[in-house]
Amino acid sequence: MMKTDRPSGSRTRQTKFARMKAIVYEKYGPPEVLQLKEVEKPVPREDEVLIKVRAASVTFGDLAAVKGKPLMVRFTLGLREPKYQIPGKDVAGEVEAIGANIKQFQPGDAVFGDLSECGWGAFAEYVSVPENAIVHKPAKISFEEAAAVPESAVVALQGLRELGHIQPGQKVLINGASGGIGTFAVQIAKSFGTHVTGVCSTRNLDLVRSIGADLVIDYTKEDFTQNGESYDLILATAGYRSLFDYRRALAPGGHYVATGGDMAQIFQPMLLGPWLSTDGRKMTNLAMKPNRNDLTFIKELIEAGKVKPVIDKCFPLSEVPDALRYYGQGRSRGKVIVTMG
Ligand SMILES: NC(=O)c1ccc[n+]([C@@H]2O[C@H](COP(=O)([O-])OP(=O)(O)OC[C@H]3O[C@@H](n4cnc5c(N)ncnc54)[C@H](OP(=O)(O)O)[C@@H]3O)[C@@H](O)[C@H]2O)c1
Repeated sequence: MMKTDRPSGSRTRQTKFARMKAIVYEKYGPPEVLQLKEVEKPVPREDEVLIKVRAASVTFGDLAAVKGKPLMVRFTLGLREPKYQIPGKDVAGEVEAIGANIKQFQPGDAVFGDLSECGWGAFAEYVSVPENAIVHKPAKISFEEAAAVPESAVVALQGLRELGHIQPGQKVLINGASGGIGTFAVQIAKSFGTHVTGVCSTRNLDLVRSIGADLVIDYTKEDFTQNGESYDLILATAGYRSLFDYRRALAPGGHYVATGGDMAQIFQPMLLGPWLSTDGRKMTNLAMKPNRNDLTFIKELIEAGKVKPVIDKCFPLSEVPDALRYYGQGRSRGKVIVTMG
């Protein structure tokens, strides 16, 4: 039985037993556990907004939610089986109906947001969400571009600003500059008036230059931890280096922030970070929290023309398993998007 039943409360007329297409899973596993099904279309509660989904993006959170790995995700998503049966974290779409208590949105508004703290469900034709999970979409970007933003751009912003204390004039290095988070990180760091070096592989050098990096380093040809340069802030979206390497590349007083990579990249800063945070250098890692103010800040950067989402590839709703497999290879150039046709 799908967990999509919703009491009524909508200000627009709803057919109570209307159906919609959705990607559904009932047990954790590889992307093959996902199935395209017809399920009951949600009806918004009094404090909810019904969104007609136009696009969703594939995030690390979706991959973890579907696999149930790392195991710690099961503490919030269900120990034995998924609590929410329609995955999909980042959404962009149009408001179709609103509950009686909704003040900030009207039917027809274009919105986007992160649904990971309110039941997920973006891989579907419709999703009903509390209004504090969404903000108005920047008018100058498409729904596909808007769906690319919530998780990846907020990780980049929180890493650079909250933990990295980014300041104008600093030398900033982004390792993993060509991926979903990295392409936002390069642009957000530039918007703070910093000098940005992006690290990526040969095939992505032009991409990273095109989004504003002042310098690019091809990690297949040059080791940025051994070239004598040092940086005030290093953000590692694809870590894959030891903490000692990163520390060597930090200027005195510099900050290193790990946001991704393998498990070692997450646990090394947690365990060793305090011991290596000396001489004013700080070694930390980020646990991103969805934050509406941060999303609004990024929306303003997009409206000011300082940030433009980079899209690698779009998949239709029926091909969400392929989209997850593609993203899971870890070679995305920008964001992977799911479109509703
Ligand atoms: N901290 C948090 O709260 C949080 C939240 C969400 C996600 N994450 C983490 O973020 C990571 C995923 O980030 P994403 O969505 O940006 O990934 P992504 O879109 O899959 O990007 C991966 C990028 O990493 C690059 N890359 C691979 N190996 C590299 C290396 N050795 N050096 C430099 N770049 C390399 C790839 O470029 P090439 O093909 O050119 O190598 C690719 O562009 C995951 O590890 C996840 O754990 C963290």
